[in-house]
Amino acid sequence: MNDSLSNLLSENRTFAPSAEFAAQANAKADLYEIAERDRLAFWEEQASNLHWHEKWNQVLDWQPPFAKWFAGGKLNASYNALDRHVLEGRGDRVAFLFEGEPGDTREITYAQMLTEVKKTANALLSLGVKDGDRVAIYMPMIPEAAVAMLACARIGATHSVVFGGFSADSLLARIQDADATLVITADGGFRKGGAFGLKSIVDDALKGETNVQHVLVVKRTGQDVTMGAKDIWWHELVDKQSAEHEAQPFDSEHPLFILYTSGTTAKPKGIAHTTGGYLTQAAYTHRIVFDLKPETDIYWCTADVGWITGHSYVVYGPLINGATQVMYEGTPDTPHKGRIFEMIEKYGVTILYTAPTLIRTWMKWGDEFPNKYNLKSLRLLGSVGEPINPEAWMWYREVVGGNNCPIVDTWWQTETGAIMISPLPGVTATKPGSAMRTLPGISAKVVDDEAKEVGNGGGGYLVLDKPWPSMLRGIWREPDRYKETYWSRFDGLYFAGDGAKLDDDGALWLLGRVDDVMNVSGHRISTTEVESALVSHHAIAEAAVVGANDELTGQAIVAFVILRGGVEPDQELEKSLKAHVTKEIGAIARPRQIMVVAELPKTRSGKIMRRLLRDVAENRAVGDATTLADPNVMKLISEGLQSEKKED
Ligand code: PRX
Repeated sequence: MNDSLSNLLSENRTFAPSAEFAAQANAKADLYEIAERDRLAFWEEQASNLHWHEKWNQVLDWQPPFAKWFAGGKLNASYNALDRHVLEGRGDRVAFLFEGEPGDTREITYAQMLTEVKKTANALLSLGVKDGDRVAIYMPMIPEAAVAMLACARIGATHSVVFGGFSADSLLARIQDADATLVITADGGFRKGGAFGLKSIVDDALKGETNVQHVLVVKRTGQDVTMGAKDIWWHELVDKQSAEHEAQPFDSEHPLFILYTSGTTAKPKGIAHTTGGYLTQAAYTHRIVFDLKPETDIYWCTADVGWITGHSYVVYGPLINGATQVMYEGTPDTPHKGRIFEMIEKYGVTILYTAPTLIRTWMKWGDEFPNKYNLKSLRLLGSVGEPINPEAWMWYREVVGGNNCPIVDTWWQTETGAIMISPLPGVTATKPGSAMRTLPGISAKVVDDEAKEVGNGGGGYLVLDKPWPSMLRGIWREPDRYKETYWSRFDGLYFAGDGAKLDDDGALWLLGRVDDVMNVSGHRISTTEVESALVSHHAIAEAAVVGANDELTGQAIVAFVILRGGVEPDQELEKSLKAHVTKEIGAIARPRQIMVVAELPKTRSGKIMRRLLRDVAENRAVGDATTLADPNVMKLISEGLQSEKKED
C-alpha cells in the first residue's frame, strides 16, 4: 500500500461551532439519526423539496452497479432552478451578482434569468436541438454559461461543459465522444488582464470530424472572430426569441449532463449524471453544508462552471435553493492580489467556497491583502478539491474568517455529483485538515486490500458502500469501463481512488489519490494523458509522468522522458515540450519540470514504477527498487540528474 497512507500528523485541535451559529443552523445533530433510521425515507423527504410534475413510484431501484433514483418521477431542472422562485414571488431576488475581470458588473434577478433561459431554450429549439441531444458548452465564467446549461436542461438536451482552459484537441475529443450537435461558446473572455480567445479554438477543434450543426457565439470581448456558415451570434438569435416557454417534465433518470474527467487512461471519461437524484442531493447538500439562508446570505463559490463544483454549487444547488451569489470571471490577482477580498467586502459575501490551492497562494502573497479589506460579513468558509493542509486551514480560519467562521472541508468527486463527506457547520467540532465524516444519508468506509474495514487509527482505501442519489449513472456509452473503473477493485463497493485514514476519534482524513491520477490545483489529470501528449512530440520516444508534492498546487507534474535517437537535449526542448502538452491538453497539464533520462524504471512485466520516480522528483532517497527489471536504472537516473544539475 502507498506509503503516504501510513503517515498522518496527529492533530488534536478541534473547533466547535459557536452557540449562536449552532442555534440558527439549517442542520442539527438529529439529522444523522433521522437519516440512519430510514435512509430511503430520508432521501424521499429531501426529494420532496423539489418540484415534481409527477411523483416517483420507487425511491431506489438498485441493480448493482446501476441505480435509478425516484423512478417514474418527472421534473424539470430549469423549472426547479428558476420558474419556481418566480411563481412563488421571488422573481425580484438577485440570482447573480456578476463581475467581469475588467470590472464591468451585472445584477441579474431570478425573473431575468428565467426570461433569458426561456429565450435561449427557444433559440436551441429553433436550431433543431431536441431532448436527448448533446450540447457542448465552452464558455468563460459569465452568466450566459449558466443560462446555456439551464436552457439545455429546460428542453431535455444533455449538456457537456468543457472547461475553457482545454485545448482544441481536448475539446474535439469531448465533442466527438458525446457526439454533440451544437456548441455554445463565446468570442473569448477576460483573464489575467487581457482577452483570451475561445471561438478560434472551437474553429480549430471543428476541423476534426464531428456532427456539430451549429455554433452559438456569445459576444463577450468584442475581439475579431471568423464567423462561418455554421456560426450564429447569440445576441442575434436569442434576443429575438419569444420569452414564453413552458418547461416540459422529464424522467427522473433523464440524462442531465455529461462531464469529462481524467481517469487512469489517456481517454477522459464522460461521467453521466441524471436529473432527479442529482438535483435532490445537490440542493440538499448546498442547504445543509453551507447553511444557506437565501433571504440574507451572499454566497460565493469560486469554481468555474467547467468543473463539477461549478455545476453543483454555482448552477444547480444554489439556484434551486434561491441563493444570491457572486460570479466572477477572472483571476484572483488581477488587477491586484486583493481582488477576491475586495469583492467580499464590496458584495458583503457571507459564505465563501474555494480551493486549497488558492488559500495557499493567498498565504504566500501575504496577510496584507486580506487585512486591507473588511471581511466581517463572512460567516462560513468552505474548501474543496484536494486535502487542505492544517496550516492552510488555520490560516483560512484566522486571517480570512477572523476566527469566527466554521470551515467545511468537503470531499466529493465529479462521479459523486455532490458533497459526500463534510462537517455540518452547526454541529461538528472540526479538526484542521479533516473532512470529518459522511453527511446524513451517505455511507462510506475505509478498507484494506482485502476490503476489510480498518478500525479507528487505521488507513486504507475510501469506498462508498451504499448507493446515493447524485451518483454517476455510468460512463457515457462505456458501461464496461464504468464497472471496471469503479466497481471491480472491491466487490459491491464503489472505489473512489482515494486513500483515507480514520483517526482515533473516527474522523476521516483524505490522503490523496492512490491511483495514477494527479491532483494539480484541485484538477484531476491522469499521468497517462500527459505521457501520451509527450510521446506525440517528435523528439520523445518514451515518457513517464508523476505528480510531485508542490507547496502551492498540491501536486505538480514532473515528466521523465527518453529522447528519440539522434535528438540532443537543449534548453529549447523543454520549452517546446511544455508548449506541446499545453497545445495537446491545455495549460493545466503543463509539466513543472521535464527531466531527460536514458532509461525508465520498470518492473519485469514492463510496468513503470512511478513510486521511484516520485522519490526522485521530490528529492528523496529512492525507495525499495528490488522489483525492477534492471536494478541499476535508478542509479543511472539519479547520477544523470546530478550531472545535469552540475552542468547548469
Ligand atoms: O482526490 C479527491 C480530491 O479530488 C478528487 C475528485 O476530483 P474531481 O472529480 O475533479 O472533483 C473535485 C471537486 C469535487 C477526489 O477523488 N478531493 C476533492 N475534494 C477533496 C479531495 N481530497 C481531499 N479533500 C477534499 N475535500
